[in-house]
Formats: sequence, structure tokens, C-alpha cells
Amino acid sequence: MAFQDFREFLDELRAQGELIDVDRPVALELDVAKAMRKSASVAGPAVVFTDNGTEFPLVGGVYNSRAKALIAYESDEAGVMQRILDGLSRRIAPVVITDAPVHENVVLGDDIDLTTLPVPRYSPDDGGPYITPGIVVSRDPLTGVPDLGHYRFEIIDAHTLSFMAQPFHRFGKNMAKAVARGDKTFRAALVIGVDPMLAYTGPIQVPDDTDDFEVAGGLRGSAVELVKCRTIDLEVPAHAEFVIEFEVDFGTTVMEGPLGEYTGYYTPASMKPIARPTALTHRNGAYFQALLTGVPPTENHTLKQLAFEASFLQMMRLQFPTIERVAIPQSGGVSFYVVIAMRPRYAGEARAAILAAMGTNVRPKTVIVVDPDIDVQDSEQVEWAVSFRSQPARDVILVDGLGAGPLDPSIDESIPLDRRTGSALGIDATYPYGTVIKVAGDACGPSVAEHGLEFVEVADVPGWRDYDFPELDDR
Ligand SMILES: Cc1cc2nc3c(=O)[nH]c(=O)nc-3n(C[C@H](O)[C@H](O)[C@H](O)COP(=O)(O)O)c2cc1C
Repeated sequence: MAFQDFREFLDELRAQGELIDVDRPVALELDVAKAMRKSASVAGPAVVFTDNGTEFPLVGGVYNSRAKALIAYESDEAGVMQRILDGLSRRIAPVVITDAPVHENVVLGDDIDLTTLPVPRYSPDDGGPYITPGIVVSRDPLTGVPDLGHYRFEIIDAHTLSFMAQPFHRFGKNMAKAVARGDKTFRAALVIGVDPMLAYTGPIQVPDDTDDFEVAGGLRGSAVELVKCRTIDLEVPAHAEFVIEFEVDFGTTVMEGPLGEYTGYYTPASMKPIARPTALTHRNGAYFQALLTGVPPTENHTLKQLAFEASFLQMMRLQFPTIERVAIPQSGGVSFYVVIAMRPRYAGEARAAILAAMGTNVRPKTVIVVDPDIDVQDSEQVEWAVSFRSQPARDVILVDGLGAGPLDPSIDESIPLDRRTGSALGIDATYPYGTVIKVAGDACGPSVAEHGLEFVEVADVPGWRDYDFPELDDR
């Protein structure tokens, strides 16, 4: 059964040795981030920083490893992809309740003091403390459809936040629609500390008219419980640890940034919208959350990877049903570099898949298509395929003038977000259509193409897997 809330997930992490308490004083200014990076570097536990200078415990690193992702999905390595695909293929509508834990404490208007929250600074040149694990719940102003997505929020002062919403993400699109119809403000909520399936729903790639709470319900296998906000017309997860209801004033901006981002580079400071909190609600004994971002891999990347891969796979298979697996590796920020394994059904299909992938909201800068015998998660195998199955003059595609990848630091960052364009590289590293592969024994797995125009013989040592080699038994 799904985790009911953040605390049940923390309990499970603790039970599995994946969560520890640190009770000595730890500074929010960089030390929390250092501790989180160090723990992640040794596949270590998530950490509750109990003595962080505020009244709230701060927990960081809950998404910082594949092992923790598998606990969140209540699955294992062999089953997790299918588990997500099954979850994505059903939708379960949320239910609205009235007596919500997140309303155990309600602070309104001028009484809100954001500086009482344990919000760390992650990289030395960050413009200020940043809420990085927050999920924005916003509604399409025209259709009312709710969206969930992670967005960074900088604490400007006790009553002011600023944020960065890419124009091609739904929170950004929802605000653009409000501006276009002449609204002066936009109201939404920032949610912190949720059942992990809600967190893993944030990055899922779905069409804009999708109710993300229904997607989360499908992934959980049961309805998400929501409660009406106190100051705005919106429903938020009832079991969240914290909710900040806020209003964006389209007339005012403030300097936001820099922030050490998921690309491994700082995004420069620039003028961005102001968000003014209208309510801060939280559970008794609420856990605040920290989420490390910066040079990959971090928990930002782990949070995105399975969700992006599964939803991208599902989307691409609608048009290319012989796609078997995809990889969107952490080294490419879980966006810029995509590998697809497919069995092309006719000449040119791999190139069509490359162009389709470039057109998705993942916005990859490099797309490589390989045959299904290649393990897409193994970069050495992918490099092998690119090296020996492709001919650059024949198999490379370059497309210019595409929407730039999110926060691509190689593009002039003084250009407004909605005007940035970039180029993308595609490599068709599948055997030319119709190639017959001769494989001796089990050397390189099954043959990958059937129709027999060219002939390729794989040079590996047949039978090596079954070779009796007792000296290696305990390795
Ligand atoms: C931890 C984290 C922080 C993120 N921060 C931002 C952000 O500040 N701005 C943004 O536009 N996208 C950000 N993203 C990416 C979007 O949340 C993500 O692409 C998501 O799929 C967008 O979903 P939506 O279009 O449904 O809102 C972040 C992702 C993660 C995992």
C-alpha cells in the first residue's frame, strides 16, 4: 500500500537504515549542504538535522539514492519501470477532506515570518536561502486543471519569496495565461513534505490538460486526500508537512539568484516575480525538507530520473512501439542526453524517433538511438555502438533553432527564458536497416536485425559465461 504521508516514508527509511538523526548543532548556511553531499557520495542515509537553529526539524536527502527511490516506489530494480508504467496507465481522482493535518497550525498574512523556517543555503554564491524541494500546486486559469511541479523559491525577506518558472513548464504556462487575460495577480501554493509518490509525480511528463493529482493517485494506487486552502481557491495535499499559500503580483519584480543549479553551474541573478505568502500552514511537529541540487548526481536528479524515463518511454511508444528502453542519465541533468533502444521496423524510423524525442518537453541536446542489444544505462555499451555502428556523414542529425534546454549554461543567459534557442544532435547508432548479425553462442545476446542486406559478425568468445573458472568464484 502507498505511503499515507511524508512521515510514514521517513519511518520506512529509518527502518531500513536509510535515515539517521543528527542532534548536534548544524548551520543552515552551507553545513547542511556539505553533510548532505557527503552522505550522498557514499550512498549514505537521509539526515534529520534536529538542532538547526529553528523550532522545526529539517530532513535532507530523502531522494538521494536509487535505493531510496525503490523504497519510495515500493518496488525493486527489476520491477520498478513496469510499476511506474502501470501506475501511469490508470488515473485515480483525488478526494477532498475537511479535517486536514496540514491545518493543525495556521498563520495568516502579516503574522507569517519565513525566516523562522529552516531553509539552507546550498552553494556559496547562492543569492540567499532556497526552498528547493517545494512542489507548486497551480491551476490552469482557463480550465481549472491542477498541476504539480517542483520550483525553486528564494527567501527574500520574512514576507517575500521569489521564484523561477520556465515558460515551458506548467506553472509558467498557467501564469502566462493569467497575464494574457489581464489578471493582475496569480494565486498558488508551495507544498513541502509529501508522500513520496506525490513528489515523484512532479517530474512526470504528461500533456498540459492532465490533472496531476489523478496521476499521483494512479501511481499510489489510491486517491490523494486534498484540503481546501485557507486563503485561496485551491486544494492541496491534506497530509503535507507545510503549505505556503501565496499570491504572485505581476506588477513587481525583485533580484532572484544566483543559484547553483542542477546543471552543475550557477544560474545568474536576474529580476523575477515576487510571491507574497497569504497563509503558512503546517502539521504539529512539522518536518521541513532540504533538497540538494548542484553538480550531478544529486537527489534532484534521482527524483527526476525514473519519473522522466517512464513517462518519456510511455509517450514515445505511442508512435514508436518497438522502443524497448530509454535512459535519461543523471550526468546530463536528466534532460540533455537521451538514449533510446529500439528495433527499427523500417528504414528511417530511428531518425524519426530522434526528431520526435527532440520535440518533447524533455528538450534533449543529444539523442542516441541504439539497437535493443545495447544496455542504454551502460555508457560503455552506448559508446561502443556509436563507435562501430554509425557513420557520422550518414547517421548524424543536427537541428538548430529548438527551444533551449532548461537553464543550459552554454547559451547566453542574458536572453529572456522564453527567447532562448539552441541546437540538438542526433546519432542513429542502430545497424543500418536490414543488417543480419551473426552472433556466436551467447556472446553478445540475440541478433538485432533480420532482413539481410548486409552481414556483420560479432567477435566475442562464445561460451565465456559458462566457462568453469573456480579462482573467480568469490568475486
Ligand atoms: C527539485 C527540482 C527543482 C526544480 N526547480 C524548477 C524551477 O525552479 N523552475 C522550473 O521551471 N522547473 C524546475 N524543475 C523542473 C520541473 O519541476 C519539471 O520539469 C516538471 O516536470 C515540470 O512540471 P510541470 O510542467 O507539470 O509543472 C525542478 C525539478 C526538480 C526535480
